[in-house]
Amino acid sequence: MNYKIALLPGDGIGPEVIEQAVRVLNVTGEVTGHTFSFTEGMVGAVAIDHTGNPFPDETLHLCRRSDAILFGAIGHPRYDNDPSAKVRPEQGLLRMRSELGLYANVRPVKSIPGMAGISPLKEEIVAGTDIVMIRELTGGIYFGKPRGRSEDGLTAFDTCTYSRYEVERVVHLGCRYAVQRRKKVTVVDKANVLATSRLWRETAKEIVAEYPEIEMEFMFVDNAAMQIIRNPSAFDVIVTENMFGDILSDEASVITGSLGMLPSASIGLSASLYEPIHGSFPQAAGKNTANPVGTILSAAMMLELSFGLVKEAGLITRAVEETIREGVVTPDLSHDNPVTTTAMGQRICEQVKALSR
Ligand code: IPM
Ligand code: MN
Repeated sequence: MNYKIALLPGDGIGPEVIEQAVRVLNVTGEVTGHTFSFTEGMVGAVAIDHTGNPFPDETLHLCRRSDAILFGAIGHPRYDNDPSAKVRPEQGLLRMRSELGLYANVRPVKSIPGMAGISPLKEEIVAGTDIVMIRELTGGIYFGKPRGRSEDGLTAFDTCTYSRYEVERVVHLGCRYAVQRRKKVTVVDKANVLATSRLWRETAKEIVAEYPEIEMEFMFVDNAAMQIIRNPSAFDVIVTENMFGDILSDEASVITGSLGMLPSASIGLSASLYEPIHGSFPQAAGKNTANPVGTILSAAMMLELSFGLVKEAGLITRAVEETIREGVVTPDLSHDNPVTTTAMGQRICEQVKALSR
């Protein structure tokens, strides 16, 4: 079958890692009898440079008519150092999330068997970690109104808003994941302080009543930040609101060894979007040193979740694990003997071929 994929390389290392994912997808297609057709769209700083808009309508329409979206990264130091810039690359990302209804970001955090040693955390702590972290992506303080400054400019405000409906759908998603796994859902909130968190708790309790086999626990976000690196094996599925999920998922990435390793899926109302969790990493842009694994594993998630190609996704995952086990890895994972982004991508392609025989 042919699948239509919108490619949004974006900024920084985005184009380099996307290129490797495309190679791996093409090889996987060849050995499994599928074809993928790619159409590129602009997003982020590069889109601002060309059109003045970080998420041009043309890109929105491309996404809407595609079966799935593969996205690299967004962001440029030019904007990070200029808080007064009116148009910012990140606005493109947020608009993309809200316009495409990408309501949940799913980030698996899994320690690769036999590879727990690559984490900066103690091996006995990280071994066996297998968490699915689900972050609500289109609500909360990222999108709440009002936001801005008082007239005298001396006070600033952001608003955190959640509706029951927004909580319900993401908690349902968490429960559906847990049913297929170890049947535990941890809802992370700050219900001792925030009204939105109390709505989350109340709603989550009602939803979980529909899943009798699931055990649900509630944890305050400060405690969760500690427990995730103290005893990651205690978690199965974590569901949390937008900003807490942003912070906790970066923290959790340390467990697997490198931010460059983690893929994610943003589940949409129609097409879903797949992206590595690392950002644009401008210092490494164009140097052929970035770790392509986060993007390649995101492509694998796309095959599984958007196209139902479970075996094909497994093939890519195994090829990545084999390549890491062989030590054919980028500088973030090897100090002594690193390879380039392209070389690692090449090796993963070879492994896909070898493992498919
Ligand atoms: C992420 C990023 C974004 C976010 C930024 C770039 C706006 O950190 O995808 O996690 O905060 O959501
Ligand atoms: Mn983030």
